[in-house]
Amino acid sequence: MGRPLSFPRIVPDTEPGGLRSAAERVLRSNWRSGRRADGTPYGFTCPAPRKYVHQWYWDSCFHAIAWRSFDPERAREELRTLVRAMSPDGLVPHTIFWGGRARWRRAPLYATAAPFGSAATAHTQTPVLALAWELVGGNDPAFVAEGIEPLARHYDWLDRERDPDGDGLIAILFPDESGLDDSPKYDQVYGWLAHWSPGYMLLVERHRRRGYSARAIVERFDHHLEDVLFNVFYALSLHALHRMSGLERFGERAERVEAALMERCWHDGRGLFFDVAERCERRVTLSTWSALTPLALPGLPEDVRRRLVEEHLLDPRRYSAPVGIPSVSMDEPSFRAGFDGFRCWRGPSWVNTAWLLVPPLRELGYAAAAERTVASLGAAVGREGFREYYNPLTGRGLGARDFGWSTLLVDL
Ligand code: GLC
Repeated sequence: MGRPLSFPRIVPDTEPGGLRSAAERVLRSNWRSGRRADGTPYGFTCPAPRKYVHQWYWDSCFHAIAWRSFDPERAREELRTLVRAMSPDGLVPHTIFWGGRARWRRAPLYATAAPFGSAATAHTQTPVLALAWELVGGNDPAFVAEGIEPLARHYDWLDRERDPDGDGLIAILFPDESGLDDSPKYDQVYGWLAHWSPGYMLLVERHRRRGYSARAIVERFDHHLEDVLFNVFYALSLHALHRMSGLERFGERAERVEAALMERCWHDGRGLFFDVAERCERRVTLSTWSALTPLALPGLPEDVRRRLVEEHLLDPRRYSAPVGIPSVSMDEPSFRAGFDGFRCWRGPSWVNTAWLLVPPLRELGYAAAAERTVASLGAAVGREGFREYYNPLTGRGLGARDFGWSTLLVDL
């Protein structure tokens, strides 16, 4: 797996054609393909050539969504590669090491079955797969049909293995299973075991000893939560799988997740959706973009969705920032606009946030806010290139360069 050198790239202009070709260049230069030692073929986009060299579950889904406007075959291959990494019982790994192994220094931080030598992690990530499969499948019935069996296996696994209290909401066992690794909303739940703390290695070891079984872990410890963002993508994916397969159980499950989000996570006083954590099932009442994600569920009551927009997204003290949508409300004491000592998701704006929230803003009639968000990110990308995230106050590009899912901007 050759790794081409990559240099900071400045996109020449913000004119849509310029952004499109720059996005395509990033996707093409991040593409990795080959065969694993056991002969399994792979083809995926690494999130960032110098920082993230493996395949990540939700990144790959976002890459496939972006690829479809440039090279639909690559979009399909990216998703097929994820399916090839699926375990026989239906777990799609969070990280897959195809061409290499986890670098030894980072190895203890990966939630793998064995401390060294595993081909992938034994934990998962926000399950965007069916949603991406449907978007990529578009009018390709053969590709859609090919996905039904493995996708059903994956979503049945989530339902069977990751809903230990049977309320319809999936529980995550690690903060990074949502993809929002260091979000301040996890600080209270994970404490010294947080993703950014050295204690995280102990969390991995402890879960490893229990075979990553949600039942065994939830019974004994308090470090788990029913995460709003994870469950929103789960519901969106269940709806997609229902549409693709016609299998009623997925449509029913999606409605159950939506009802549970309303019943268990909606906080009428604050007008936000909060995660439910620990065995005592307490709500984690912190305002992060995760609390706004149910906006993307058209099945939720319209007045609830409008409250998310009017009381939060449009409020200049909260989420209406000069650039993009901040990952933490600007009025939270934990909000940090810029680089924060290697911790991410503590304030900066990411492109996948806008990708999820801009379409419902348009749908509900907030076109000016939607276009302002897209234009501000377009200008930041034009100036700084496709970075991992951006300072929401200044637009400064931060984190990795040539970051794959930032190319989702072309989809908006
Ligand atoms: C960071 C992000 C996570 C992403 C990974 C690879 O860890 O927090 O969401 O999947 O990088 O890009």
